[in-house]
Amino acid sequence: MRIDIITCLPRLLESPFSDSILKRAQQKGLATVVVHDLRDHAPNKHRTTDDYAFGGGAGMVMMIEPIDNCISQLKGERTYDEIIYMSPDGDMFAQAVANALSLKENLILLCGHYKGVDERVREHLITREISIGNYVLSGGELAAAVVADAVIRLIPGVLSDETSALTDSFQDGLIAPPVYTRPAEYKGWKVPEVLLSGHEAKIAQWKYEKSLERTQKRRPDLL
Ligand code: ADE
Repeated sequence: MRIDIITCLPRLLESPFSDSILKRAQQKGLATVVVHDLRDHAPNKHRTTDDYAFGGGAGMVMMIEPIDNCISQLKGERTYDEIIYMSPDGDMFAQAVANALSLKENLILLCGHYKGVDERVREHLITREISIGNYVLSGGELAAAVVADAVIRLIPGVLSDETSALTDSFQDGLIAPPVYTRPAEYKGWKVPEVLLSGHEAKIAQWKYEKSLERTQKRRPDLL
């Protein structure tokens, strides 16, 4: 899978992809993340990517031309399954959306800033909009990193134990059960006996019951 991220603040996206799972996914050739500086696609030497809003109003608006230049160049190189604008008023991101996107080959994530993008970008250049929650971030970069992370970790082979993505919270509509590690007792606080029993069927049953209990308590809306 290849993810192209278009932004006017590329440095914000340096660290999320240069560590841990996302770094290894790229080293293994399972995912490629390319960050594009929108300023490189600006039509003038000042590398301007935003301008005042027609009709007035506070805040700058991202211009269509640099965005169109960048997207057109990328589309000339390969076919994209989705061109996604990260926006607080987009479709809500959730595990099901991540699952669906993880099956795609090429994605573009466009990060907005300021008061947003010229509306014609939304009308003509993108295929969908995604929000990561009902709050406004200062830009789409962190949202793009969230989406890329949630999607890339689902690609087979990215996680060392392939089943571990399948046992994540939300994958089966339930929250994951609690987990413990050594020591088996700490300050008198004990790990549940069943987990130390080595009895696989009993452990599986315990995990399922805990998942159900947690979901009922914390997220009954999922049931
Ligand atoms: N850009 C600003 N806020 C955002 C949000 N909540 N989700 C996605 N992109 C955004």
